[in-house]
Amino acid sequence: MKNLIQVKKLTHIYSDNNYGIKDITFSVQSGEFIILAGKNGSGKTTLLRHLNGLLSATSGEILISNNPIEKNIVEIKKKIGMVFQDADSQIVGETVFDEVAFGPENLKWERKLINKKVESTLKLLGLTQLADRNPATLSGGEKRKLAIAGVLVMEPDVILFDEPFSNLDYPAASNLLSLITKLNKNGITIIIATHDIEKVIAKATRMIIMDDGHIKQDGVPDQLIKITEQYGIREPCSSKLNLGIINWAN
Ligand SMILES: Nc1ncnc2c1ncn2[C@@H]1O[C@H](COP(=O)(O)OP(=O)(O)O)[C@@H](O)[C@H]1O
Ligand SMILES: [Mg+2]
Repeated sequence: MKNLIQVKKLTHIYSDNNYGIKDITFSVQSGEFIILAGKNGSGKTTLLRHLNGLLSATSGEILISNNPIEKNIVEIKKKIGMVFQDADSQIVGETVFDEVAFGPENLKWERKLINKKVESTLKLLGLTQLADRNPATLSGGEKRKLAIAGVLVMEPDVILFDEPFSNLDYPAASNLLSLITKLNKNGITIIIATHDIEKVIAKATRMIIMDDGHIKQDGVPDQLIKITEQYGIREPCSSKLNLGIINWAN
């Protein structure tokens, strides 16, 4: 395991003097599966947007593989992919295939390589049959997979997910969790921001709890599960009933 991301005393103040995050310090090792938990407004999205270079810090710093993030922002965006909360806002292509090809085209990869990588990525995610479909016609679960494909095609080291389970029904959520788990097993570091930990907690190796822009807890999910409600995060039902943690993956 190596230090992939180091965040040091990171603070973000929005233009209207609103604090997004305050004095955040933590690091991420390669291969981790982290839940970034917190109620609405706790600072999760602001932190994720810093980790892939979409926002720059008011103070503090982020090192990616020991280099300051702002030194190499293009490279960082390839290494650290982000799946946004609103899958529709991320879609730009006219077909599923074009959508996945978009990132590599921007990076000016060779056409042959693009086609090969797009095909293998669609296959891995079970989207091959949908290659010619207009993304607007996909289901919620398919759209989220498409957003993941658009990130995965660039071979990232880390994928950041912002509320990936929102608006997904039970089969789509359990399917998505299985996919995310598979990506983690293949060596991709995972960080999932969510206010609803129940669906993902069984698979996470670490949970970071945010509240009011601060990191309040950082530890093993098993040990934090009973105290989440202090921070406005619902304790999973199975845990409340002392039945432990139930796995949502299929
Ligand atoms: N664009 C923005 N302008 C001003 N304040 C913002 C903006 N985005 C988020 N905030 C504020 O920053 C804080 C953290 O928000 P956010 O990172 O979106 O939290 P979360 O993702 O946990 O719901 C909140 O107080 C929110 O109101
Ligand atoms: Mg958010």
